[in-house]
Amino acid sequence: MQDIIENIVSTVGASQQRGQVADYIPQLGRVDINHFAISVATCDGQLFSGGDAQTPFSIQSISKVFTLTQALGKLGDGLWRHVGREPSGDPFNSIVQLEHEQGKPRNPFINAGAIAVADALLSGCQPKEMLAELLRFVRNLANDDSVFIDEAVAKSELATGDRNASLAHFMAGFRHLRHPVDSVLGAYFHQCAIAMTTQQLAQAGLFLAGDGLNPITQSRVVPSRRARRINSLMMMCGHYDGSGEFAYRVGLPGKSGVGGGILAIAPGKASIAVWSPGLDPIGNSKLGTEALEALMQRTGWSVF
Ligand code: DON
Repeated sequence: MQDIIENIVSTVGASQQRGQVADYIPQLGRVDINHFAISVATCDGQLFSGGDAQTPFSIQSISKVFTLTQALGKLGDGLWRHVGREPSGDPFNSIVQLEHEQGKPRNPFINAGAIAVADALLSGCQPKEMLAELLRFVRNLANDDSVFIDEAVAKSELATGDRNASLAHFMAGFRHLRHPVDSVLGAYFHQCAIAMTTQQLAQAGLFLAGDGLNPITQSRVVPSRRARRINSLMMMCGHYDGSGEFAYRVGLPGKSGVGGGILAIAPGKASIAVWSPGLDPIGNSKLGTEALEALMQRTGWSVF
């Protein structure tokens, strides 16, 4: 495996066509587009890495996998009153479907859906407590206490978050949020500002490769059925209106973030994290997707 990874770093990682760094969040626009990292945590306890696998990056929408997992733990199937589970076929920050669908977002991974999930997680606690609980959960999954929330990214997003504020107010107008819009947005912006390395992220995703059980620590994170359901949502909705293309090219459940990271799950085999900050026009990591495509060609891990 290490030779496959070295090969991907020296070929895909060296590409001149790197896409474009997200600059609608100014702090993300400052990240060097030349970063490239890949980590593979296998279900038999090995960890392989290449490139900048020790450099923390902003996980952005990948955090939505962790908040969804927590919200399902807290509300169970009650969560589906607040958010659907169908692919949207629209950009991640789109508002159009909300108007026709009574303010209920299509799925937990588009921005509107993740804002609804953050609102659900705020039941019975303050944003600070919710974020502390989330950080504890992610640190525990990654088996690393150095995972942190990058305040500069959170502030940068708050300062330029008009689209997300519009989504939240629109949902509130349909009585789909139960907490003040500012609290929900504060929680959402901070969850997106979690910073992790690909090594930490690959390890944090292992429970989804292990049918809900962390194969290293043997601790159960979620019931098996829930792990499968989260994986199915990642497959259908994890790359927004690029989800079909990702399934076609990579064939794994995956979740992307505009920081250029992707978490992909090969059930029973491995959890894979890649990072390359340049995005394709839809907002998914360009070289990250190519790296996963190359890894699938070499390992045959596609679920299809
Ligand atoms: O709310 C936003 O726009 C960002 N914090 C997260 C969006 C994102 O990562 C979409 N991913 N490809």
